[in-house]
Amino acid sequence: MNNITSLLPLKYPIIQAGMVWVSGGKLAAASASAGILGVIGAGSMKPDLLEHHILKAKSLTLHPERLAVNVPLLYEKTKEQLEVSLKLGIRIFITSAGSPKIHTSWLKNEGCKVIHVVATPEFAMKSEAAGCDAVIAEGFEAGGHNGRDEITTMALIPQVVDAVKIPVIGAGGIGDGRGIAAALCLGAQGVQMGTRFVLTKESSAHEDFKNALLQAKPESTHLVMKKLVPVRLFKNKFYDEVSRLENSGATPERLAALLGHGRARAGMLEGDLEKGELEIGQITSLIKDLPTVEELVEKLVEEQRRCLPGGAFF
Ligand SMILES: Cc1cc2nc3c(=O)[nH]c(=O)nc-3n(C[C@H](O)[C@H](O)[C@H](O)COP(=O)(O)O)c2cc1C
Repeated sequence: MNNITSLLPLKYPIIQAGMVWVSGGKLAAASASAGILGVIGAGSMKPDLLEHHILKAKSLTLHPERLAVNVPLLYEKTKEQLEVSLKLGIRIFITSAGSPKIHTSWLKNEGCKVIHVVATPEFAMKSEAAGCDAVIAEGFEAGGHNGRDEITTMALIPQVVDAVKIPVIGAGGIGDGRGIAAALCLGAQGVQMGTRFVLTKESSAHEDFKNALLQAKPESTHLVMKKLVPVRLFKNKFYDEVSRLENSGATPERLAALLGHGRARAGMLEGDLEKGELEIGQITSLIKDLPTVEELVEKLVEEQRRCLPGGAFF
């Protein structure tokens, strides 16, 4: 037991990250069954679709207590997403991209655990003051939306650990057991991994997207949309278009218009590798296999044990 496995009903202190278009009920259920936290990414879901995914996840695992929902706090439907999750028995929430002040005390009164994603020590302190149970310190290697200050995981984790008393979970650029061991050495008590779980059999990323990622090189991703909401993307034609606009000084409104055409769904879920938006982290080029979640979790646990002979964290 460490602080994360006593805070959450998990076998291992690993969180399969909530990811738009990628982490639905099937992936979350497989993760819960494998002993880690299975997170449904509600960001892209209307409340009725979220309800469908929660019910699906609950029907596919014997460990519904290991299911959580990720709610980015920047969308209009946040309150409804939280309400539908509560109604269906979800008691663990990962919140991100917004102020933890708004919903944390309400969720805590409902008996929930609330973990907020932060990209700076300052936001970690604000999350602690808002009553969060833990924070996820996410460095800018991470896939998806990202902090503006471009602080790397290596630099961020120890500074967040020093800034707060609540447990810290490391994220961003963790792709195997070596990464897990490194995060734990820096003082994190657990890890959240996104990119690694995109490349599993149960993720709902399109097969063509997965196959493209298996060919990735270290320089295949880049952080763009810095004027709007920074996001790390896999380089494709859509990325070229965004970069060109950014470099030509386009306004945030012009950039938002480019995004506002269902690009993320088209890319990640439907496999449009040219015009679609493909969110993924820097560590993608390390990953050359497509295991089931169960196979992956076993491998991660073994790998981190081998990194720390005689003194493994879990
Ligand atoms: C495809 C994709 C979609 C993501 N969507 C979300 C999201 O909806 N909400 C969120 O808080 N984070 C999102 N993230 C970030 C992850 O939750 C996680 O923190 C991140 O992937 C960790 O870094 P890694 O990709 O290097 O493992 C996404 C990441 C990826 C790769």
